[in-house]
Amino acid sequence: MTAPTRIVPTGTGTGPGTGTGTGTAPVGAPRSSAELIRAERPVLAHNYHPLPVVVARAEGVWVEDVEGRRYLDMLAGYSALNFGHRHPALIEAAHRQLDQLTLTSRAFHNDQLAGFAERLAELTGLDMVLPMNTGAEAVESGIKVARKWAYDVKRVPADQATIVVAGGNFHGRTTTIVGFSDDDTARVGFGPFAPGFRTVPYNDLAALEAAVDETTAAVLIEPIQGEAGVLIPDDGYLTGVRELTRRAGCLFIADEIQSGLGRTGTTLAVDHESVVPDVLLLGKALGGGIVPVSAVVARRDVLGVLGPGQHGSTFGGNPLAAAVGSAVVELLATGEFQRRAAELGAELRSGLAALTGKGVTGFRARGLWAGVDIDPALGTGREISERLLKEGILVKDTHGSTIRLAPPLTITSEELASALHCLERVLA
Ligand SMILES: Cc1ncc(COP(=O)(O)O)c(C=O)c1O
Repeated sequence: MTAPTRIVPTGTGTGPGTGTGTGTAPVGAPRSSAELIRAERPVLAHNYHPLPVVVARAEGVWVEDVEGRRYLDMLAGYSALNFGHRHPALIEAAHRQLDQLTLTSRAFHNDQLAGFAERLAELTGLDMVLPMNTGAEAVESGIKVARKWAYDVKRVPADQATIVVAGGNFHGRTTTIVGFSDDDTARVGFGPFAPGFRTVPYNDLAALEAAVDETTAAVLIEPIQGEAGVLIPDDGYLTGVRELTRRAGCLFIADEIQSGLGRTGTTLAVDHESVVPDVLLLGKALGGGIVPVSAVVARRDVLGVLGPGQHGSTFGGNPLAAAVGSAVVELLATGEFQRRAAELGAELRSGLAALTGKGVTGFRARGLWAGVDIDPALGTGREISERLLKEGILVKDTHGSTIRLAPPLTITSEELASALHCLERVLA
């Protein structure tokens, strides 16, 4: 693997709002972090609550703000940056493709898409690919495919298909998806919602068995629930879901948009139990942190139910996305990132174990991914994230006092140790 080159600080490194900025502003003078944050307020929808840092450049695991302060990125774009910022092989693939062809729409074929689908099918052990752009689109597309399969193959009566989902799920932000979320902030105020979903507790096979019936098209779950705080189900749960869905004659859809592509120390999180779902949803890191790329990957007898005109996306499968996606799959095919995640994951776990009782009340970790519960007496997850920001570490809270650690898989042992050391300092 090519070691990412460290970015070189170029700014003044003075306090927030006091620097002059080093980026080239398209209109007028360069603006400081504080000015840029203020400028967002009247013109951007307030659907996020970002930490007060304005990133201008990044390379590998390091990002730099407009004043030239450097931060270690321990969030990695919610796992969209598994290969780090601007991985040389991915940037090269993107540059090469930018010089050739960027978009055709699927009205025509392009010379990149077949190779991307072949590589992705081979990596996942499945047959066919439906290329999309965002994670939520892949989830929506997976739901459509499952329903079509239920009517065409399972012979569920028209409009009766159901999909069983898990409590605490996070699958994206469309109206259909938030309709089966149990997070009030995500759902309340956005109804009416699509029918056809049943919710059962996560990690509960008996409840799942009771919810599945002859109308069930699919069981849709995250093999590890990321947004819920990196909740890892008991050993045997994924195997149980696989056996149960096979017995019930419905599809197992694994949403690996956050858990997949090396993050947990294997290519997919379901690989920990050697389980092969019928439908796999991928996104985030599939675009290498460069372009939005997502995909529904499935067996031929499942994705084969779609015919011309029944689904599509203007940008889905565009040649730039396919070129970057192919380069991502090539990186994963080496196995090196999965190995790194497993090895450094062991260091992450032992570092967090050492902090348990010293401000950390508990944690769940697999590979380079951890949900860390902080003693609420020390502050909310947000407050801990803000204190870590001041220490030069970027993380984000999930719920309450839980923070999520998900660094690029290119992080070194020393960088990881230094991030854990900062956490220790902040908690002390
Ligand atoms: C498991 C899972 N599914 C779906 C999504 C939605 O992806 P996107 O934000 O690209 O729509 C996310 C995003 O965090 C996710 O974690």
